[in-house]
Amino acid sequence: MSSFVIAYGSREGQTAKIAERIAEMLDSRGHETTRVSVADRRSDVSLADFDAVLVGSSIHMGKHAKTVYRFVRENRADIESRPNGFFQVSLSSAVDDESARAHVAEYIDEFIRESGWHPDKIAAFGGALRYSEYGFLTRMMMKRIAADATGDTDTSRDYEYTDWEEVESFVADFAAFVESGGGSADTPGSSPENRE
Ligand SMILES: Cc1cc2nc3c(=O)[nH]c(=O)nc-3n(C[C@H](O)[C@H](O)[C@H](O)COP(=O)(O)O)c2cc1C
Repeated sequence: MSSFVIAYGSREGQTAKIAERIAEMLDSRGHETTRVSVADRRSDVSLADFDAVLVGSSIHMGKHAKTVYRFVRENRADIESRPNGFFQVSLSSAVDDESARAHVAEYIDEFIRESGWHPDKIAAFGGALRYSEYGFLTRMMMKRIAADATGDTDTSRDYEYTDWEEVESFVADFAAFVESGGGSADTPGSSPENRE
């Protein structure tokens, strides 16, 4: 049994929902999990208490959450000294074309460049369109973006694009990585085959 912390930045709730599912999946493998919203400073945790770390961030206007950058900056040494993984949540990951795939890769590259953290494991999941949570202007903007991206422009309902099987296989892979010692046989967290 290992202890995992899942720290996430979520504006409209989809990354929080994914963090919750990840916790359930890890729990069912017999692990202990703690979820932390990085926007909530009252829930600051000491990573020293955990065996492994997952960080999740959604994308808004081409950027990851500032609160996630802050969390990684403040905890980088503790993140890097234990098995670690990063998951990104965006609309681009819900779209299967070359330009969307390029965006997904650019967001990840920028995150690594800006944060300086090279996660052991990385995943990119489709997010959601939560028209019910947007104000008027955001709803109109997202409707226009969705017309090109997914075609889902009915603002009277929400749309979810997360592929839960993909989430499950990321969790299985990360859990197996931690259960097998997290690459600690060689340099911790640095083996290239663990990068995706
Ligand atoms: C105002 C706004 C801007 C967004 N910008 C992008 C973007 O630049 N690229 C992208 O792929 N997805 C974008 N999205 C989609 C979000 O990443 C997606 O809705 C995700 O599920 C949000 O996760 P959260 O609910 O955890 O915040 C945007 C969504 C909103 C509401």
